[in-house]
Amino acid sequence: MAQRWVATDFGGLDVFRLVEVEVPPPGPGEVTIEVRAAGMNPADYKHVASGTDRSLLPVPVGYEVSGVLTAIGPDTEIASGGGAVGDAVLAFRVSGGYATALTVPAKDVFALPERLSFAEGANLLLAAATAAEMLQVVDAAAGETVLLHGASGAVGVSVLQQAGLLGIRVVGTASEERLDEVRWFDGIPVRYGAGLTDRVRALAPDGVAAALDAVGTDEAIDVSLELVDDPQRIVSIAAFGRAAAEGYQVIGGAMPASKAYRDAARVRLITLAGTGALVVPIARTFPFDQARRALELLSGGHPGGKLALVP
Ligand SMILES: NC(=O)c1ccc[n+]([C@@H]2O[C@H](COP(=O)([O-])OP(=O)(O)OC[C@H]3O[C@@H](n4cnc5c(N)ncnc54)[C@H](OP(=O)(O)O)[C@@H]3O)[C@@H](O)[C@H]2O)c1
Repeated sequence: MAQRWVATDFGGLDVFRLVEVEVPPPGPGEVTIEVRAAGMNPADYKHVASGTDRSLLPVPVGYEVSGVLTAIGPDTEIASGGGAVGDAVLAFRVSGGYATALTVPAKDVFALPERLSFAEGANLLLAAATAAEMLQVVDAAAGETVLLHGASGAVGVSVLQQAGLLGIRVVGTASEERLDEVRWFDGIPVRYGAGLTDRVRALAPDGVAAALDAVGTDEAIDVSLELVDDPQRIVSIAAFGRAAAEGYQVIGGAMPASKAYRDAARVRLITLAGTGALVVPIARTFPFDQARRALELLSGGHPGGKLALVP
C-alpha cells in the first residue's frame, strides 16, 4: 500500500485528503517509483479550486516527482535509456505525484542527474519546460531585452537562467524583498507595483522587444501591452481571461501544442541541470503528511523558491 493525497471535492485546501492506495505492478512500458520528493506547483491547488466536473473526483494531485525505481515492467526502458531497480529518477508529467509510491509510464521517467537532490529533481521540469516555451513563443532572440513579470518565482528564475544562456537580457519584476534573487540570476531587477512602466522604461531606454508574464495580474498585462508593440510578442501563463480581446498569447500544459513542446524539451533541460547551467532553488521541504501546510505557503503567492513534499 502507498499513501497519496487527493482532492475529494473542488474548492480550497480543506478538500485535500491523505488516503491509502494500492500501487499496481508495472505493465509493459511502465515503472514503479518509490517517491523521495514530490515537486509542488501552483497548478496543484489551482485545478482543484477551479474544477467543476464531479465525475473526475477524487482528483489526483501533483505533476512531478523524483525517487527510486522499485519495479520495471516487462521489456521496458525509461525515457533516458536503460533503468534498473534502485536507480534514482525523476518523472514528469505524472498524475498524482503527491504519493509515497506510484506506477507511471516509463516514457516520462528520466535518470536523475547526480548533481540534483531529490527535491531539486522533483521540481525541475514543470517550471523549466514552461519557461522554455515562454521564450520560444515570443521568439526571444540573442541581443534582445525582454520584460519578465514574476522573475523571483519558480518559472521566472528558470526563464532568467535560460534567457542568459541564449544571450537575452531580462528586466525582471519582483517584490522589494526578492530583487536580489533576480540580480543573482543575472536579471535586471525592478520592483512590481504602481509606476512599473516608468521604472522599466528607465532600465530599458531602447524598449523591450517582448514580455513574459508569470504572474497574471492586470498590472502585468497592462504594462506589457503598453511597452510591447506587437501583442503576439507577449505571453502569459496565468492571465487567460483577457487574451482573446487583447491579442496576446497564452500557453498551458494541457494545451496540445504546449504539451508537445514541453515533452520534447525535457531531455535538454535535464542535461542543462546536470551540468549546473540550470539550477532549481528550493525554499523549503515539508514532511509528506503536511501537504496542506505546504500548499498554504504556495498559495500565498510568495513561496520564495520551490517546495517539495518528502515522504
Ligand atoms: N500556464 C502554465 O503552463 C503554467 C505553468 C507554470 C506556472 N503557471 C502559473 O504561473 C504562475 C507562476 O508560477 P510559479 O511556479 O513561478 O509561482 P511562484 O514560484 O509562486 O512565483 C510567484 C511569482 O509571482 C510574484 N507575485 C506574487 N504576487 C504578485 C503581485 N501582486 N504582483 C506581481 N508579482 C507578484 C512573486 O513575486 P515575489 O515573491 O517577489 O512577491 C513570484 O515572482 C502561477 O500563477 C502558476 O499557476 C502556469
